[in-house]
Amino acid sequence: KISFYNGEFKNDDELRVKYQDRAFYFGDGVYEVIRYYEGEFFTLDEHLDRLMNSMAEIEIEGVSRQELLDIVTELKERNTIENGALYIQVSRGIQNRNHAYPVDVEPVVLAYINEARRPRTQSENGVHVITSEDYRWLKCHVKSLNLLANVMEKERAVKAGAHETVMHRDQVVTEGSSTNVFIVKNGVLKTHPANNFILNGITRLEVLKIAKQLGIETDETGFTVEELKEADEVIITSTTQEITPVVKIDDTIISDGQRGSVTNRIQEVFDANIH
Ligand code: PDD
Repeated sequence: KISFYNGEFKNDDELRVKYQDRAFYFGDGVYEVIRYYEGEFFTLDEHLDRLMNSMAEIEIEGVSRQELLDIVTELKERNTIENGALYIQVSRGIQNRNHAYPVDVEPVVLAYINEARRPRTQSENGVHVITSEDYRWLKCHVKSLNLLANVMEKERAVKAGAHETVMHRDQVVTEGSSTNVFIVKNGVLKTHPANNFILNGITRLEVLKIAKQLGIETDETGFTVEELKEADEVIITSTTQEITPVVKIDDTIISDGQRGSVTNRIQEVFDANIH
């Protein structure tokens, strides 16, 4: 497998990452996960735009959109993976540990591809989630490498035999540990507004776009944990999870434990868009 680090494409066995990379000790960087299906990138422009935006938000300068595009394009070409999830991160640079931004240091790009299958079983049968308080920082719109709270909350789900943790701030549902969250109530598709409390998912935007095409009413004002548990349908979305129905939240069964019809309609259009 060929990966990219600090200006070079290398075989994974030969790739050496610098321990002075600020991504390691500060999580000082931003990232994206981009899917490609049968050799074709899905929503690549949107991911590159968001990466540029995340970099601007944390004041990383010196990497152009064109450079990022060239790296991901060449990386895909150099690997023989048909269906992949491409991970790309940009760190502030390599220097001895010092909190203040380094001077005269270039940002460092790391990128690699893992084979990824479509999550078909969970897309059909749905998943269980648990809920918890959202105690993350207040810049969740930045796709930061700092994912400690997300990692710990995902692990709580795993220990509980669930698939994901849905977080809330003062009972207002924000997002999952690595997904956005929607409910359907009386035919209206609701989700948290795209502000600093959530990552504005590319899949979230796709779902909203599809809903509008289908004439489904959308509402981006958010909802509470109580509304979540009383919803007709619940969906979590991400680049890797795609559009996944939620059929149980803590001890509450949703949608008779089955994928709902609105979810199914949106999934069908999403599938058609991929191919
Ligand atoms: N996670 N919210 C959070 C906190 C996320 O980490 C992600 C994605 C999303 C969904 O965003 P998108 O639809 O653009 O993938 C929402 C990626 C896949 C990850 O960290 O693996």
